[in-house]
Amino acid sequence: MRRHWYKDAIVYGVDVDTFDDGNADGIGDFIGLTRRLDYLVELGVTCLWVLPFHPTPNRDNGYDVMDYFAVDPRLGTMHDFEIFIRECKERDLRVIIDLVANHTSDQHPWFQEARRNPQSKYRNYYVWSDNPPPESFGVTIFPGEEHSTWRYDKEAGAYYWHLFYRFQPDLNHANADVREEFRRIMSFWLDKGIDGFRVDAAPHMIHKKGIEGTELDDPHSILREMRAFVEQRNPDAILFGEVDAIMTEVPKYFGDGDELHMLLNFVLSNHLFLALARRSAEPLIRYSQYFPRIPQDCQMLNFLRNLDELDLERLTQDERQEVFAAFGPDPDMQIYNRGLRRRLAPMLDGDQRRIESALSLLFTLPGTPLIVYGDEIGMGEDLSLPGRIAVRTPMQWSGDLNAGFSEAAPEDLLRPVISEGPFGYTNVNVEVQNYNDNSLIKRVRRIIAKRRANPAFGWGSWRVLRTGDAAVFAHCATDPSAKVLAVHNFADSPRTIRLDLGEDGNDTWIDLWAEEPVDDFESVALEPYGYRWFCTDAPLGAEDERTNPD
Ligand code: GLC
Ligand code: CA
Repeated sequence: MRRHWYKDAIVYGVDVDTFDDGNADGIGDFIGLTRRLDYLVELGVTCLWVLPFHPTPNRDNGYDVMDYFAVDPRLGTMHDFEIFIRECKERDLRVIIDLVANHTSDQHPWFQEARRNPQSKYRNYYVWSDNPPPESFGVTIFPGEEHSTWRYDKEAGAYYWHLFYRFQPDLNHANADVREEFRRIMSFWLDKGIDGFRVDAAPHMIHKKGIEGTELDDPHSILREMRAFVEQRNPDAILFGEVDAIMTEVPKYFGDGDELHMLLNFVLSNHLFLALARRSAEPLIRYSQYFPRIPQDCQMLNFLRNLDELDLERLTQDERQEVFAAFGPDPDMQIYNRGLRRRLAPMLDGDQRRIESALSLLFTLPGTPLIVYGDEIGMGEDLSLPGRIAVRTPMQWSGDLNAGFSEAAPEDLLRPVISEGPFGYTNVNVEVQNYNDNSLIKRVRRIIAKRRANPAFGWGSWRVLRTGDAAVFAHCATDPSAKVLAVHNFADSPRTIRLDLGEDGNDTWIDLWAEEPVDDFESVALEPYGYRWFCTDAPLGAEDERTNPD
């Protein structure tokens, strides 16, 4: 059977400007990121997702692009980027970059020309309407910060459509010229050696706007075209998409295996947080019932947190309130009426057992796991920073000046490091955790190593097992090489359960953490928030898979 590198990948999301500052100007850069690659390899990461790094007015963390063919000078030069890619290749690290194709910055030369000159070909790169604009075909993504998706532009004498911020005019992908531009952009970066793209805001990008000339009969053809192009340029490269939709909609973005290779799994993150809030397995059992059939070459990309708000739109109003009550009761922690601007560790009160348990679920549920920088040490958020920037503070490397992130004067940092409280950098940092065998980072390394040695967790066919205890979730997965099983306790108290594996009970099972054989599953003991993993004897080694991905 063909194995795909991305199905066995461990993905790490990193924002260049907050990771490591290589030239002491207070802003992270490619030189800094490059010198930390060995750290990432040691962690067990196999693929980096690098957030936008192009020239930008930077009003939306770089998701407002001014020039798709360049590197933001604050983050380095093109040469620095090329060295970064070369060093990644030497370490077998894959690199995925963001493709922000739904919109540009209003400072992008296309938009500047479009608003200035109605005759220019760039006018039709965007979505315009004369007064009065038609009813919105979508509500703003940022309630509280934006009131409408239409904005009047004096220079253009017309309204333009912007689903996100007003300074991010949407592109018109029904225009073949726009699609051609993005093929040039993808080509440019594929030639630099990257392994694929994260398609930002994928559903919005193809969504019908209700304006003549901006609609295709078959909007998914836009994604199919992108996929075919990428595949033709590099059969090994992938597209993964940000598709925050209900589970019945989600698989449409896989197409017949001819659209996006992987989809960020918002439905899982929502149900996982509900399960954690309720200390109950039920939301995950329900999730397993929604789980769609996935085409052969496709995969879910699972995460607990990303670097946006924890968006809880896939829950009902009441469920969302339960998660708010458990993990973000203070209105200042909430954002856009739908999410929390918090990191994982503080939401779980810094309780390492609980953090590990959540990560263990992430690394055993079907799909490819994604963590974001700082998750491995349990970083916190800074609520004094505006909006989602709260979860984008500099990486905490050590207890030294600026958490070891930068040698600049503290007042020159892009944004302050977290210095106060239990998540302050003197308490939470890589260096201090490296000295402690029971630290979170050590545990995360072991979790990643075990997951890599047992790829069946990621993409075997899976089923949920009855545990007879509402707080305990058990699931097993089977691929041609192995059977694996994981059990998670959501409760704050020890539990003992009995598992009926049916025919699989006749196999010889090994406890993957205790590294010893299991006699039977008559009584499986779990610590408070405990987790246990099992496999049938002699699964294929992950090493073999990695060196020979296809
Ligand atoms: C995606 C990004 C988010 C950004 C938005 C607009 O949702 O994750 O950070 O604001 O796209 O580009
Ligand atoms: Ca710098």
